[in-house]
Amino acid sequence: MARIGIFGAGWVGLVTGISFADLGHDVVVRDVQPDRIDALQHGRAPFHEPGLDEALERNDRRIAFTLDADDLAGCDALFVCVGTPPTYSGDADLSAVWTAIDELPAFDRRVVLVMKSTVPVGTGEKVRAALETRGLSHVGYVSNPEFLSEGRALDDFVHPDRIVVGAYAEEDGQAIEALYEGIDAPIVRTDVASAEMIKLAANAFLMTRISFINEIANVCEAVGADVTEVARGVGLDRRLGPHFLRAGIGYGGSCFPKDSLALKQLASNSGYHFQLLSAVIEVNELQKRRVIQKLQKYLGKLRGRKVALLGLAFKAGTDDMREAPSIVLASRLLAEGSEVRAYDPVARPGELLQGAVLCGSALEAVRGADAAVIVTEWPEFAGVLDPEYRDAMARPLIIDGRNMLDPAEARAAGFTYEGIGRQASSFAGLPETEEREAELRG
Ligand SMILES: NC(=O)c1ccc[n+]([C@@H]2O[C@H](COP(=O)([O-])OP(=O)(O)OC[C@H]3O[C@@H](n4cnc5c(N)ncnc54)[C@H](O)[C@@H]3O)[C@@H](O)[C@H]2O)c1
Repeated sequence: MARIGIFGAGWVGLVTGISFADLGHDVVVRDVQPDRIDALQHGRAPFHEPGLDEALERNDRRIAFTLDADDLAGCDALFVCVGTPPTYSGDADLSAVWTAIDELPAFDRRVVLVMKSTVPVGTGEKVRAALETRGLSHVGYVSNPEFLSEGRALDDFVHPDRIVVGAYAEEDGQAIEALYEGIDAPIVRTDVASAEMIKLAANAFLMTRISFINEIANVCEAVGADVTEVARGVGLDRRLGPHFLRAGIGYGGSCFPKDSLALKQLASNSGYHFQLLSAVIEVNELQKRRVIQKLQKYLGKLRGRKVALLGLAFKAGTDDMREAPSIVLASRLLAEGSEVRAYDPVARPGELLQGAVLCGSALEAVRGADAAVIVTEWPEFAGVLDPEYRDAMARPLIIDGRNMLDPAEARAAGFTYEGIGRQASSFAGLPETEEREAELRG
């Protein structure tokens, strides 16, 4: 068993640390936020992620938390799991990565620095060069990108589709591969630049599928097809598969928006215009705004209308508000002069939703509302078809931004319902004979 040090106690760092502790390794996680470390030292997870509290308790002897980077001395591998947010130019901001490297403790033997943060292709080369310049040639370097999804992060870590290990030196790649012993997944051993690119390309492809099905949904609306049926039929094609074919109000979160921009910038910095990715990003931006048009279709001007936003986190299962579509929606509605009443079971948006009224329950949010928009697919919103909700609303209008409700059930429950891409055609029978004859006569 190894001793593993981790920079960053965010989603990736904490889940990586706990999962390695579960595998039997000794782990020290270092963060720079005192409240985060304090919570962890008292056994409390600093954010909402299913299973995290239990996993912390289970591993309290094998995992330690610290603010002091020197406590990572003596580790065999040091994982960098710090944030890489976008800069104004759209490039990835690597300042936290460089700070972590500046803070590496002293080593008297070979250790491996492992990059788990999502970084531009070429970062490994730069870090390798910086290590050499600082006389740290005994520090190995491995790119080991992470693919977990928030909301099921612990499960994703132990049941990954693959583990990517890009190394300069064979012994370093082997050492990192060995840490994952006990996890049954294909290992992709490759060079560092390709490992970095695998992460960016995988995310870009997933976003492409989302924007693709969203555009299909928009065409479905125009021509009278139902995108959920279309996606089912398309997804059964084994060459395509069913994943990431759910139409909705667009992707958000801490990864997709920033990683797509970073890849687009990376390409353009190298002289290549990544047209497809540019379109994927633009489609996503427009998709978030289509809900406004749907509301206008039913309500006309939105000034003075009360709109309930059900769900604020960028997806169900997390309290992460980074780049959540709810932020764009709320600010567009407020700009139109609407009153926004918002509810999420776990996310606490704070200033991000300035101007909106935060409610303690979905029922409270829809009270007196002219429309309810399902923004995040929390299972509890299946309950909004209850007569209690319909009666509480000023108008029983639901815009289902996640297609989580059944349109027929919603209409039967007395709601005006509109999802995304679900204007299915229905043949209502030919007109009565006389009418028909008159029609044929022209
Ligand atoms: N969140 C995801 O679903 C996910 C999935 C795959 C990959 N990633 C990538 O992993 C990286 C981390 O993402 P995250 O969501 O965990 O970020 P996060 O913002 O939740 O956590 C990053 C943590 O690093 C800490 N930190 C900053 N500087 C530090 C330093 N010098 N030493 C130690 N800690 C430091 C921050 O205080 C913060 O707690 C990003 O590059 C992201 O793109 C994220």
